[in-house]
Amino acid sequence: MKERSLEERESFLPREPPPLSDREFTGYQQLVYREAGIWLSPAKRALLVGRVSRRLRELGGISFGAYLQRAEADEAERVRLLDAICTHETHFFREPRHFELLEREVLPRWRAKGGTGSGEGRRVRVWSAGCSTGEEPFSLAMVLRHHLPAEEGWNIEILATDLSTSILERARQALWPLDKAEEIPNHYLRAYMLRGVGSQEGKMKAGPELRSLVRFQRVNLNDGHGLMGRFDLVFCRNVLIYFDTASKARTVERLLSHLCPHGLLFLGHAESLTGIGWRVRTVMPTVYTPRPPVSEAARRG
Ligand SMILES: C[S@@+](CC[C@H](N)C(=O)[O-])C[C@H]1O[C@@H](n2cnc3c(N)ncnc32)[C@H](O)[C@@H]1O
Repeated sequence: MKERSLEERESFLPREPPPLSDREFTGYQQLVYREAGIWLSPAKRALLVGRVSRRLRELGGISFGAYLQRAEADEAERVRLLDAICTHETHFFREPRHFELLEREVLPRWRAKGGTGSGEGRRVRVWSAGCSTGEEPFSLAMVLRHHLPAEEGWNIEILATDLSTSILERARQALWPLDKAEEIPNHYLRAYMLRGVGSQEGKMKAGPELRSLVRFQRVNLNDGHGLMGRFDLVFCRNVLIYFDTASKARTVERLLSHLCPHGLLFLGHAESLTGIGWRVRTVMPTVYTPRPPVSEAARRG
C-alpha cells in the first residue's frame, strides 16, 4: 500500500484538541514544577492545551494522559514539553535603564580602574540566564565591546544559557528578522550587525567579533547546574516571574552564589526579591549587589 504523506495523515486527525482532565492537568503542573520550577496556575490551563496539542497531533493524535506518561518516562520528551510551555518573548535592549546603568556608570568605572574589581584584571565574565533567542546576551556583547575595547586588553566572556534546547539552537545562529534592527541603537547596529543578502535577505546576523564573545549552554535554573566560577554581571530577567516563591528563592540564592562580591544581579521589572532581599543591597530598582557576609561575631553583637 502506498505510504500517505504527512499532510494527508494530518488532515485525518481531529483539529480540536483532545480533552484535558483535572487529574491530568495536576500531573502536568507537578511535572513542570518539579523539572523547571515553573508553576502552571489554573489560569495557564488554556496555554498548556494550546501549546501541547500540536505535539499530540505530531504523535498521531494521542491523548493528554498518554503524552503525560510518555513525558514522565522519556527525558527527551520532557525537554520538548518544557520547550513548548516556556514563553520566549524577548527584545534587544529590553529594559533600557539596565543598559544605561552599564554605559554611564559601571563600565566607565571599570575602565578607569583598569579592572572589574574581581582580581582578574581586565577579564569580564557575564551570565545571561534565560537568554531566549539571544537578544539579551548580544545586546550585552555590543555594550561591553564598545565600552571595553579589545585593544586595551579587555577580555569579555558572555555565557548565555536557557532551559530550552530549540531556543538555544536559534540563539546560537545569531540570526534575526531584519525588523529587529529597530530595537538596536544605530551606532551599535552599524558597528556590530550584518545585513543579510541573497538567501539571508530580510535577516540580520551578529558579526564575527560579537559572536566570538558569546558561548551557549543548556542550564536549568531549577537544579544544581554546576556552572564554574563567578560572574561580574548576572542578567536573569523575565524568568523568575514563572516561578513560585520557593523556587524563586532557591534560584536567586544560586544566582548570588555565582556573583563576584562586587558583582551586579539584574532582574526583570516585574520581579521582586520579597523574602530574600536581606542578602543584597539595591543599586537601583531591579539591580542588586550582594551584601558582604556578616561575621558570626558581628551577628551576635
Ligand atoms: C521571557 S524569556 C526572557 C528572555 C530574556 N531574559 C529577556 O528578558 O528578554 C524567559 C526565558 O526563560 C527560560 N526559562 C524558563 N524556565 C527556565 C529554567 N528553569 N531554567 C532556565 N531557563 C528557563 C525560557 O526558556 C525563556 O527562554
